[in-house]
Amino acid sequence: MKKVYIETLGCQMNKSDAERMYGMLECLNYTQTDEPKDADLLIINTCSIRQLSEDKAYSAIGVWGKWKKESKPDLKIVFAGCVAQQAGENVLRRAPYVDLVLGTQRLYELPDLIKRIENGERLVSVDEKPYEESDIKINRVKSVNAWVPIMEGCNNFCTYCIVPYTRGRERSRRPELIMNEIKKALSEGFKEITLLGQNVDSYQGGEEGQNLSWLLRQINALDGNFRIRFVTNYPTEITDELIDTVIELDKVCEYFHIPMQSGDDYVLKKMNRRYDYQTYKKICDKIRNKIPDVTITSDFIAGFPGETEEQFENTLKAMCELELDYSNTAAYSPREKTVAAKWTDLYISEDVKTERLARLNECNRECCLKSNQKYLGKEMEVLIEKFEADRNVITGRTRNNKIVHIPYDKDITGEFVNAKITRARTWYLNGELV
Ligand code: SAH
Ligand code: SF4
Ligand code: F3S
Repeated sequence: MKKVYIETLGCQMNKSDAERMYGMLECLNYTQTDEPKDADLLIINTCSIRQLSEDKAYSAIGVWGKWKKESKPDLKIVFAGCVAQQAGENVLRRAPYVDLVLGTQRLYELPDLIKRIENGERLVSVDEKPYEESDIKINRVKSVNAWVPIMEGCNNFCTYCIVPYTRGRERSRRPELIMNEIKKALSEGFKEITLLGQNVDSYQGGEEGQNLSWLLRQINALDGNFRIRFVTNYPTEITDELIDTVIELDKVCEYFHIPMQSGDDYVLKKMNRRYDYQTYKKICDKIRNKIPDVTITSDFIAGFPGETEEQFENTLKAMCELELDYSNTAAYSPREKTVAAKWTDLYISEDVKTERLARLNECNRECCLKSNQKYLGKEMEVLIEKFEADRNVITGRTRNNKIVHIPYDKDITGEFVNAKITRARTWYLNGELV
């Protein structure tokens, strides 16, 4: 048996791709190793959302290239993921020791391509036409949660974002493939299914009416005690039907991730987001009014080209006023090919971006603590995800995605328990079993 190691740098979608690659490679007699030095096949699964993530990809394979040159001439190196999709042949020029450049659109071609590089070919497969997938083996990371992609790609072209260039146009997976995958994950003992997509609300199963709400109903009807989540939603695509579906279906959790990006209307326009602050607020209010204890999380960018101090302060105000439960934050990073990257004369200096990001993070911490304090004294259902034997603590998540630490002396990972919240911290809650 040969050994394969995959280093994943990106989002949940990339992690899910890695589980698929491990599965396909097992069928070619490769076993998984956690030690890159032992591997016969090394795969870097790249992300290009920011410059830093792209730089990481090239520096990691630099080390691998050295091993290959100095002591392991038969080592095969694959450059996969979002940077690969975009950079294509340029990767071979930049890193001549790479054997295969595999774009995100060509994931399911991996077994054929591996056989060819084993025979000495050097290949680039980044053709934009997505390769047809079929039922494949998936080696999921051992956890309680199974990632299940339902759609991929994006048609929105926000002016800062590279994803439409790395994941291509929106396309949905066939419902049979999704349902088979979920049934299998449940039979293997997974207790939570998270549906993945750049814009899950654009899901279209092929026939009329087969939208995200329809899909959630199919999954909810499956037997067993498990939870269903979905990420990410585009603010204006959240329909009343979807909100009502979340209320109606017992397994679907009270949690929405709705990236807002900026709280300023002018910046939102420049970002090519199709809503203003009031529109986003109305959606948030509607969800909060209909679903008590719902968690709403978001993403924000600090220092978008041309962003003034006043416009940035509108973002801070929005975060507080909407009482967002948690936000991912980042400083703007120019991405080649995107529209905003061309506005070089409007770039914000690194110092100002860093300072704004720090203030955004401070505001985020305050919002999180405030959100967590709402649950003091309440009883919540927690799905246990891990056990720390040295501290005798079990950790899990509530339906609304809050992390809870509970003192307990046995590993009951995968079980649902009820806990009373005793203390609210910034990033998590403390609780006691009831
Ligand atoms: N589809 C999701 C987000 C996918 S990318 C949506 O519509 O929002 C994840 C997050 O990365 C984005 O929400 C954005 O906040 C951040 N991001 C994307 N491009 C970025 C860039 N060039 N610089 C900094 N952050 C960026
Ligand atoms: Fe990127 Fe915008 Fe598409 Fe999200 S909606 S993936 S931010 S282009
Ligand atoms: Fe994900 Fe990064 Fe690609 S965020 S979609 S791995 S660019």
